[in-house]
Amino acid sequence: MQARSQDFAALVKSRQVIVCVGSGGVGKTTTSAVIGLHAALEGKRVLVLTIDPAKRLANSLGIQAIGSDPSPIPLERFEEIGLSPKGTMHAMMLDMKHSFDSLVQQHAPDEDSKRNILQNKLYQYFSTSLAGTQEYAAAEKLYELYMQGDYDLIVLDTPPTSHALDFLEAPNRLVEAINSRAMQFLYKPGRASLLGVGTGYVIKTLSKFTGSELINELSGFLKAFSTLFKGFQERAAKVRELLTSDVSTFCVVTAPNAGNIDEALYFYEKLGGDHTRVGAFITNRVHPSWVPHEELAMPSMRISAALGDTMLMEGLDASEQKQFAKNIRNNASDFQVLADLDRESIQRLADKLPKELPILQVPYFSHDIHSLRGLNHVRKAIFQD
Ligand SMILES: Nc1ncnc2c1ncn2[C@@H]1O[C@H](COP(=O)(O)OP(=O)(O)OP(=O)(O)O)[C@@H](O)[C@H]1O
Ligand SMILES: [Mg+2]
Repeated sequence: MQARSQDFAALVKSRQVIVCVGSGGVGKTTTSAVIGLHAALEGKRVLVLTIDPAKRLANSLGIQAIGSDPSPIPLERFEEIGLSPKGTMHAMMLDMKHSFDSLVQQHAPDEDSKRNILQNKLYQYFSTSLAGTQEYAAAEKLYELYMQGDYDLIVLDTPPTSHALDFLEAPNRLVEAINSRAMQFLYKPGRASLLGVGTGYVIKTLSKFTGSELINELSGFLKAFSTLFKGFQERAAKVRELLTSDVSTFCVVTAPNAGNIDEALYFYEKLGGDHTRVGAFITNRVHPSWVPHEELAMPSMRISAALGDTMLMEGLDASEQKQFAKNIRNNASDFQVLADLDRESIQRLADKLPKELPILQVPYFSHDIHSLRGLNHVRKAIFQD
């Protein structure tokens, strides 16, 4: 195993929570499952908490439905592809909406407030679209499962966030958003309040534009929701403590192109900018260097000769063979440009990070990663197994 992979394996071994973050579509869900697979093979009881995995991947992980309990990946599935895990692997799909509901259930001071919130028409909207609710619910679920203590390692996949702050700061941001002065202005009783005593005129005026039903719902929602703040704040502090302690580490997943690398570096800075918090970078979908540069400079005749009478060349006359060889060389040259660009970007990333922080590379596979077998290919690339 290469030093980088060894360092990463040691990191995975030493943590109880690993959070995979990164921009949309870079491979967070894939990487989370791969880290889980590795740890399960090494003997840990692992739970992979995924968010919106591709259907086929969900199937191969045995995930039945959103919000269902963690489901184990049966031993036979591993054995089919020649693996014999020393530990176990469970997977579960996070249901943000459900998690947020259970948060309300937990923190509402009484049945009335609970009902008022859950039945409120605006709650549906707020619980799914207010900045940070999804991330909050994910962090909350992670905390709950961590406290239950059934797993040695929980790997948390994260939603595609527009920037890194969303995830780590979601708990505080959510509380702040609802508790903001503008919101207070709306629901706190008093002369300055829009919905407090003596505001009939304002409501009447606003109603013309927004509909009185909306105003009433908003007022009811915010009043009931305000009862949750204390619980939310306490819980947010605990979640943050877990995510910033030695128990947890973050793994930044990125594509190896310039734009994504910049975003990944931004994530790194926002997560604290040091490798005690961010344990590793995974550069995913790296174009491999197939052909050495000197070979790309070969005349196409030599490529044609090298191809000899392979299947590919069968049935082509001499000039077609020459054209075919040219096409292959041009194609390989173009591919090499991509490979070189990837390498440059990864070098730029390495130059900006501490030497001891492992940067792992996963090649661009010609197929999607939708099965345990596919995950195992990625695992081999990351852990150099
Ligand atoms: N190294 C790779 N080679 C080829 N395909 C890959 C590779 N890594 C991931 N994929 C495929 O790319 C797609 C996106 O990967 P994945 O779902 O893991 O990304 P994500 O970061 O979780 O996306 P989202 O932000 O939408 O949640 C999937 O179809 C996956 O199978
Ligand atoms: Mg995903």
